[in-house]
Amino acid sequence: AMGGIALSAQASDTSSPASGSLVFDPDAYNKLTTTVTDTDGDEHSVTYHFWKAITYVADPVDATYQSLIVSAPVEIDGESVDASNAPILLANSVGGYMPSSVADATGVGAGGGGGMPGGTLPSGAAGASAAPNANENTNATGGATSSNQLLALAAGYVVIEPGARGRTLKNSDGEYYGVAPAAIVDLKAAVRYIRSNKGRIPGNTDRIVSAGTSAGGALSALLGASGDSPLYDKLLKEIGAADASDAIFATGAWCPITDLDHADGAYEWNWGSNATGSGSTVDQTVSKALRAQFAEYQAGLRLKGLDGTRLTARNYDAYLVEQYLEPSATRYLTNLSDSDRTTYLASNTFITWKNGKASFSWDDFLTHVGARKKTAPAFDAFDLSAGENNLFGKGTAETRHFTAYSLKHDTSGATAKRLDSDIPEVLRLMNPMHFLVDQPNQARTKHWWIRLGTNDSDTSHTVSANLAAAAHTLGDDVNHLYYWDEGHGANTDPGDFIAWIAKVTG
Ligand code: DHB
Repeated sequence: AMGGIALSAQASDTSSPASGSLVFDPDAYNKLTTTVTDTDGDEHSVTYHFWKAITYVADPVDATYQSLIVSAPVEIDGESVDASNAPILLANSVGGYMPSSVADATGVGAGGGGGMPGGTLPSGAAGASAAPNANENTNATGGATSSNQLLALAAGYVVIEPGARGRTLKNSDGEYYGVAPAAIVDLKAAVRYIRSNKGRIPGNTDRIVSAGTSAGGALSALLGASGDSPLYDKLLKEIGAADASDAIFATGAWCPITDLDHADGAYEWNWGSNATGSGSTVDQTVSKALRAQFAEYQAGLRLKGLDGTRLTARNYDAYLVEQYLEPSATRYLTNLSDSDRTTYLASNTFITWKNGKASFSWDDFLTHVGARKKTAPAFDAFDLSAGENNLFGKGTAETRHFTAYSLKHDTSGATAKRLDSDIPEVLRLMNPMHFLVDQPNQARTKHWWIRLGTNDSDTSHTVSANLAAAAHTLGDDVNHLYYWDEGHGANTDPGDFIAWIAKVTG
């Protein structure tokens, strides 16, 4: 089987099609068996009940996306398990703020975990619609043998995978119906569906742990931060969401592409001096102006870092180096064999290795990472060409500006003098920082797992660190590490995440 995961399915029941009712049918499952390879390389046989796509709202705009799948283990390595009160991993597969569907999924791990912009998935990961051998009762469910979903199932947790609308969806009237804030409204509706089915749906509905990568990580963080916020009530009502709490217990976010209103400035603060992939340097006047915006924003946040320092644009480089980057390199080097470590250090002489600890400067780190992934501005492009311009589209407008600076410097022929009046509210509905800093949301998740590859220049390293600092400042439990030399979408410690779920939900 592809990616080392074989899933043999025997139909024991036929699921009935979604009906518009929001009552979960506990009996409408198929019984499937899959083999999960754990992080030590050991194989486990997992038999589970699988509920194929269930529409989670009463008035769907597009049920292809507004549906979820449920997997609940019943037997692991020959031993019966009872998952009726187990934690629920709510794993979204949103990537690039694109549409994400589980409509055709025939088993757990539908999305692979972490899509890329443009809808493609990391090599080896199967998309939701890619179930090549489903009618042969064998289904390749994603190449990531250690994906969160599979490991969670093998740990005895319930896995629920929601689809969600995304930015490119357009109806026959030419209207974009998956632009912001559609995806977060959908994920909240999925949570409401789960909680309204307490006692019918497997798992402990008070122990929902969200997970997602990149845009999906941003949405996961937002889901955690904004739990039960009344700001979404009207939108949830419009799609017929269940009448229940949408607060979740814990949040996992890998490389969250979030805080989009401030991401252009943060990006230049971080990567402004790095050349692009084609070797050119971005317009330094633009870069400098954006960096100044970041300094003002960061000062206004008044955040304390995990070490207690007040974070500013001036000390943030030292903070990232000391709090995250050096410990990340130290962990990486500690886990190498002596000879591999020697080889690595010989080709990375910017690292000083002393008493089992790595140290280096911020500037040398930036040189080590090399080319920045994006041009300037990274998110609100002057020519409206960034994915985020589409994310903030509206009605028949495929793209819009969402920052005053980029509107002012527009090169697309936009004639408006100011941003559309709805933009501030849409930005607020899309940004977890608003629920952590301005007016801390009491119903937010209190447990945060945040991860980011040190080579990831899809956004600024301050974005994750600010999210962590904001949650930490509120007294929440924050577990945030950077993966050394890893790029966008990395998840190199999924076993630790699964163990963390047991710890925080226990
Ligand atoms: C993703 C990546 C990006 O660079 C971005 O701007 C938005 C989303 C992603 O991989 O999901």
